[in-house]
Amino acid sequence: MELEARFGVTNYAPLPVALSRAAGCQVWDVDGQAYLDFMSAYSAVSHGHAHPRLVAVLQAQASRLAVVSRAFYSDRLGEFLARACELCKLEQALPMNTGAEAVETAIKAARRWAYRVKGVADDQAGIIACNGNFHGRTLGAIGLSGEADYRRDFGPFAPGSQLVPFGDARALAQAISPATAAFIVEPIQGEGGIVVPPAGYLAECAQICARENVLLIADEIQTGLGRTGKLLACDHESVRPDLLLLGKALGGGLLPVSLVLGRREILGLFEPGSHGSTFGGNPLAAAVGLEALNVLLEEGLIDNAASQGEYLMQQLGQLAQPAVQAIRGRGLLQGMELDPQQVQAHRVCSALLKRGILTRETHGNVLRLAPPLIVKRHQIDAAVTQIDAALTECA
Ligand SMILES: Cc1ncc(COP(=O)(O)O)c(C=O)c1O
Repeated sequence: MELEARFGVTNYAPLPVALSRAAGCQVWDVDGQAYLDFMSAYSAVSHGHAHPRLVAVLQAQASRLAVVSRAFYSDRLGEFLARACELCKLEQALPMNTGAEAVETAIKAARRWAYRVKGVADDQAGIIACNGNFHGRTLGAIGLSGEADYRRDFGPFAPGSQLVPFGDARALAQAISPATAAFIVEPIQGEGGIVVPPAGYLAECAQICARENVLLIADEIQTGLGRTGKLLACDHESVRPDLLLLGKALGGGLLPVSLVLGRREILGLFEPGSHGSTFGGNPLAAAVGLEALNVLLEEGLIDNAASQGEYLMQQLGQLAQPAVQAIRGRGLLQGMELDPQQVQAHRVCSALLKRGILTRETHGNVLRLAPPLIVKRHQIDAAVTQIDAALTECA
């Protein structure tokens, strides 16, 4: 901790625990103290820590072939992309590393499509995003954000972005102009405070986008790959976006792996030299990504997220805690909104740390509850007991 404080940049404020080992839903600190992980590295560890199948593939692939760049083909990438396209029912996939890079790629793709297919005048293409969105920390992503804290003293930003209220499809319809290239949306806002839009919102947005010739970009970097109890959160409303962004859990909790998936008409507009990444689609990432998809389906993680998520919400709903204002979410992406007059979510997280539960607050006073998708009922019971006690202690 001292070394991080001295030599590291303080762009994060970690809780005072130094973790050194993990397996499944359990994490241990340097003193051997055990914790239950209800954070999952912001949904990146959906498969649980050190999943044996994923570690085995990682080790085998690392010692065979790890990084070659896209200057050459590898014997791993094609199979990974094919499986991802088949599962997501989209035609092509472009591999990147982090979520923010997938967002940047989607913005580039949408702008290209606007100029070359839709016929928008040069340099006029617009992107509509939602209030409260989080699409990452690059200039493109924070350029879409309405959060002053994310943007302050990092400008100037690219022109052409516009914000509409999240959950209001009519506002989207009104904001669209002939120059609009795309609407980018998280099916559930994660960093915005686990905000679930009204039922039917996504489907209505998809209809509006189709009618107005605007691309629908679903940022499922956090909600995707089983987190909400279906493979994609879009599946809850049978929506097939024009561009789909995956990341986080795609790397199996081991590596950064992201994908932009979409129709050939859009992604096919990238010709050689127009976009790329040294590490994107490397054989190590492709092998782990493919196995991450297979484990998700073959080991029933998506169904477990649905049933344990329902159980978690039920159990949290039964707590007699006056500070709890709302419990929101779907599957194993849940947030407990706390009344700031009664209790500070940050203090609750510190109390939970001492009680062996790892989580963090998100957007103000919301306690994030997002364990790995392999979580078992007794682990949920243990966490809920500690949450109850921590709320009482901090109130
Ligand atoms: C919805 C969403 N999009 C994009 C990102 C950015 O991903 P990364 O941190 O891998 O760049 C995140 C990260 O939290 C996210 O939740």
